[in-house]
Amino acid sequence: MNTKLENYTAGIKRILITKEEIDIAIQNAGKEIDAIYDGRPILLVSILKGAFVFMADLCRAVTVPCEIGFMCAKSYYSGTSSSGIVKITMDLDQDISQYHVIIVEDIIDTGRTLNDIVKMLKTRNPLSLRVITLLDKPSRRVVNFTADISLFTIPDHFVIGYGLDCGEQYRNLPYIAEYDNGKDKTSC
Ligand code: IMP
Ligand code: MG
Repeated sequence: MNTKLENYTAGIKRILITKEEIDIAIQNAGKEIDAIYDGRPILLVSILKGAFVFMADLCRAVTVPCEIGFMCAKSYYSGTSSSGIVKITMDLDQDISQYHVIIVEDIIDTGRTLNDIVKMLKTRNPLSLRVITLLDKPSRRVVNFTADISLFTIPDHFVIGYGLDCGEQYRNLPYIAEYDNGKDKTSC
């Protein structure tokens, strides 16, 4: 095996959430969304890139009329300040004022990114706005933010797979795994 492939494989420390567990949780989340919206049309907004896989499965688990949108956002912070500036590097192409919007996120860590995105999307006056996240790391929060629907709460591990990356790799793994860089547990 070449060194690059050895390093790649060694990075996958252990599977935290299997593909089967993810599938079941998404089917249940789809039912929960169907019950909340009760036939009203929704707009699912995926935050790129991490949430693209979750979005693809979630949109097929709901039966209410559903449109999809994508946005890409980066948050910038000075020092330890928790009030950030969210920069939209790719915006929605819909006017959301006529939609019940659900933001679809891969993971909530410090909470800063979603806190900023929610504030910003609220200024666009959607009919309603909720947040669903695949993963939640509440122990890492620096701003007070809670998702409306959270599929899995995980400990403070850096995770990869099912859309989540480390240096743009591992997004295509069908499960969530703990990443091991051989040094520390908090970065890749
Ligand atoms: P937050 O603003 O700290 O909540 O940042 C959330 C973003 O950080 C997520 O959308 C991910 O892109 C990234 N992130 C946080 N934790 C992890 C992780 O364990 N693995 C991969 N990406 C992560
Ligand atoms: Mg992300």
